[in-house]
Amino acid sequence: MPHLVEIAPSILAADFACLGDGIRAVERGGATLLHVDVMDGHFVPNISIGVPVVASLRKATRLPLDVHLMIENPEQYIPLFAEAGADMISVHQEATPHLDRALSMIREHGCKPGAVINPATPVSMLSEVLGSLDHVLVMSVNPGFGGQKFIPGALEKIRQLKLARERYNLTFRIEVDGGVGPENVTELVRSGAEILVAGTSIFHTQDPAEAVRSLKQMAGGALAQRA
Ligand code: DX5
Ligand code: ZN
Repeated sequence: MPHLVEIAPSILAADFACLGDGIRAVERGGATLLHVDVMDGHFVPNISIGVPVVASLRKATRLPLDVHLMIENPEQYIPLFAEAGADMISVHQEATPHLDRALSMIREHGCKPGAVINPATPVSMLSEVLGSLDHVLVMSVNPGFGGQKFIPGALEKIRQLKLARERYNLTFRIEVDGGVGPENVTELVRSGAEILVAGTSIFHTQDPAEAVRSLKQMAGGALAQRA
């Protein structure tokens, strides 16, 4: 059964001084999720946004908020992001020795739990938690910055996840983040990606609404071929 493909614009690449306009543009383009990158300057070498911004976003859009935590000690902040209005929360496998506990916390707080793996982390590191996940996020860049080049090793991981899902009869969705754009969308969807996070290729264009529309169309075409 083919899953739907969703485009999740990453607001990291938007102009924060007029974030509301950026969000309305991607809504018009047909985005069905909003990807929110939270960075603490420790787990990744950059600082982005935190809980108050998620609370403001919750008031500014009806789109589900897909919160990607790139922070140390994520367990400490899960309740706060859930309370602020996150719909999906994903934590890095590399960021906690207690991934299973973090995922349970996300679910207990009413959000959809996701696990993220960095480019250097194999899919096998998630083998024990695949059954408790709403989504797996495969990083196709080293996290911390937008605008980086896509690392092609992510494609093989996406294929492995798709196979594991079929073999064990699981339901998690497969998400990819980093360097995603028109040049790789078709191959990503053919490999099994269902949630495509894109920052630069949407917000650093003249017309972000049209950028979403066009990615969505390409993804839909690739999905039809896959089915
Ligand atoms: C990177 C973030 C990404 C980032 C993607 O650490 O997790 O979500 O915004 O940006 P692009 O699409 O520009 O690679
Ligand atoms: Zn992200």
